[in-house]
Amino acid sequence: MKHKFVGIDLGSSNLIIYLPGKGIIYNEPNIVAVNQMNKKVVATGYLALKILGKEPESVSVIKPVNRGVISSISMQTLMIETILKEKKHKNLLKNANLIISVPSEMDEVNILSVKKIAKNFDAKSITIRTQSYLALLGCESSDTSSRGNLIVTIGGGCSDISVTSGIKLLISRTSSFCGHDIDVAISRHLRKKHRLIIGEKTAEYIKMKIGSLEQFPENRLLEVSGRDLVTSLPNSIVIATMEIKQAITPTLTPLIESITDCLEITPPEVASDIIESGIMICGGSALLGGMREYLESNLNITVRVLGDPTYAVINGIKNLIHQGISKK
Ligand SMILES: Nc1ncnc2c1ncn2[C@@H]1O[C@H](COP(=O)(O)OP(=O)(O)OP(=O)(O)O)[C@@H](O)[C@H]1O
Ligand SMILES: [Mg+2]
Repeated sequence: MKHKFVGIDLGSSNLIIYLPGKGIIYNEPNIVAVNQMNKKVVATGYLALKILGKEPESVSVIKPVNRGVISSISMQTLMIETILKEKKHKNLLKNANLIISVPSEMDEVNILSVKKIAKNFDAKSITIRTQSYLALLGCESSDTSSRGNLIVTIGGGCSDISVTSGIKLLISRTSSFCGHDIDVAISRHLRKKHRLIIGEKTAEYIKMKIGSLEQFPENRLLEVSGRDLVTSLPNSIVIATMEIKQAITPTLTPLIESITDCLEITPPEVASDIIESGIMICGGSALLGGMREYLESNLNITVRVLGDPTYAVINGIKNLIHQGISKK
């Protein structure tokens, strides 16, 4: 094929691979389980997630991307290699033009890590674009008009903010706030208030089941099992939405601060467009109950959640490929 393009949304929680003509060929947790004895992959994606926290000593379950940055080039390469082999696309990345998403404020070392992965697969070229900018390109309203936009991707490992005039990028920031912070806040709360130690998957489950930032959430109850901090014996307790809401709300402060910082340096004409049409949010954590309302009341600006928020970045990559990379 003359111009082979492949899009990769390299997330801290999820890995999405897009192939023109075929669509999304992979969308699963960015996790790999490796046997430490023979260095062979035991499982990837959902299967690896299933093992996480229950793995035998000989198996390591690794998340190759942490807080938006690559923590293991070799594991990310191995995971992608395994997936592509399984999908009968072994040489997909060889001589391909790769488009990969990264957080805006990524340092040179991390950019080099992304490039190294592309090199490991003998890719022909690599185009690196920031997540929130890609998300803007992925939404229907990303036309050539010069309307001001502010878009935030709220993912599992970071949040990324872009302010644009039409599709021209004016300001970009990465906020440390992420979905994982909420999970950690839930774990800490249970440990401190209930002496209950839970695993990271349980914390995420609690967030998705009863977590909310709504002002007046429906007070749902959930029975949670873990290990008692003092006795070390299994124990279970019942927790409520209101309690979780109080534990997780403070984690949002860095995100509010980062968006406010961006708005403060946004040119007035662009800011007036943003105030008129509102802020757009996407990414998996935009699905947290009450996230939209919480941001709206703390920023005093209308907030919209993009349709299919977890696909926003890969949709942007898709549009970038189909509309021509050089134009953007
Ligand atoms: N319904 C939901 N309610 C709350 N949180 C959710 C929901 N669905 C997904 N999430 C959270 O969204 C996060 C994953 O989002 P996403 O897939 O956008 O992240 P990512 O792109 O892999 O990571 P990043 O871009 O931050 O490196 C996880 O923290 C997950 O718990
Ligand atoms: Mg992401």
